[in-house]
Amino acid sequence: MSCMDAALYRIANSYDHWLQRRYVKSKLAADPAYAATAALVMDRPMPLLDIGCGIGLLGQYLHTHGAVTRYLGVDSDLRKIEAGNRALHLSGLGNALHLAHADGTARQPIRGHVALLDVLHYLPQEGQRALLDNAVAHLAPGGLLVIRNVLRERSLRYAMTRISEFFLRTSGWMRIGAQHYPSEEELRAPLEAAGLAVSVRSLHGKTPFDCYLLVAERAPR
Ligand SMILES: C[S@@+](CC[C@H](N)C(=O)[O-])C[C@H]1O[C@@H](n2cnc3c(N)ncnc32)[C@H](O)[C@@H]1O
Repeated sequence: MSCMDAALYRIANSYDHWLQRRYVKSKLAADPAYAATAALVMDRPMPLLDIGCGIGLLGQYLHTHGAVTRYLGVDSDLRKIEAGNRALHLSGLGNALHLAHADGTARQPIRGHVALLDVLHYLPQEGQRALLDNAVAHLAPGGLLVIRNVLRERSLRYAMTRISEFFLRTSGWMRIGAQHYPSEEELRAPLEAAGLAVSVRSLHGKTPFDCYLLVAERAPR
């Protein structure tokens, strides 16, 4: 096992429920969003705000890879923030990474990069717009807004994703089910109107699900 694999296993083992540990292991091993975010921000050291951070996995991943100077994760689900904070405490990272219970539209005392991974479709259309506006407000010059989301389209992957969202909701892992699947244009238009340069690419990885990475960059000063 490589040093990095061992570090990722340590992250998984810091979570206190066996189901969560299994979930964390499979996310870290197979989900390409964390690696993609680390690659994007690695050479642009700045603080990172993670909106809808869940149990704080992205922060732990970025810290393990030395890709973040300061990390604040916020989530509206108190259970997840508490589970994430217990894990940070166990792994001794409680001073380096911070998780807070807050809505994604609340202003935070941090400017830099912003991540919004698998969050937007849990909000209605107007809520998505408010979250996007708040994310843009936290970008520093040269900062990146990294969005990973399902995009509405006609494809088998899109259908598979909708089925998996149904099971996430009925299992109780997500308290609120998917509300609105945005199209690429719905996300791109307000970001470009805010002066950001936007690029989109697929991020299906080894999964059968619909998944895209949208990166919006604020020009350096
Ligand atoms: C599928 S999880 C993704 C977690 C994390 N971003 C990741 O990739 O591991 C979606 C998260 O968005 C959070 N969320 C949904 N609406 C939110 C809002 N308005 N403000 C903050 N968090 C929100 C949920 O509580 C949930 O933890």
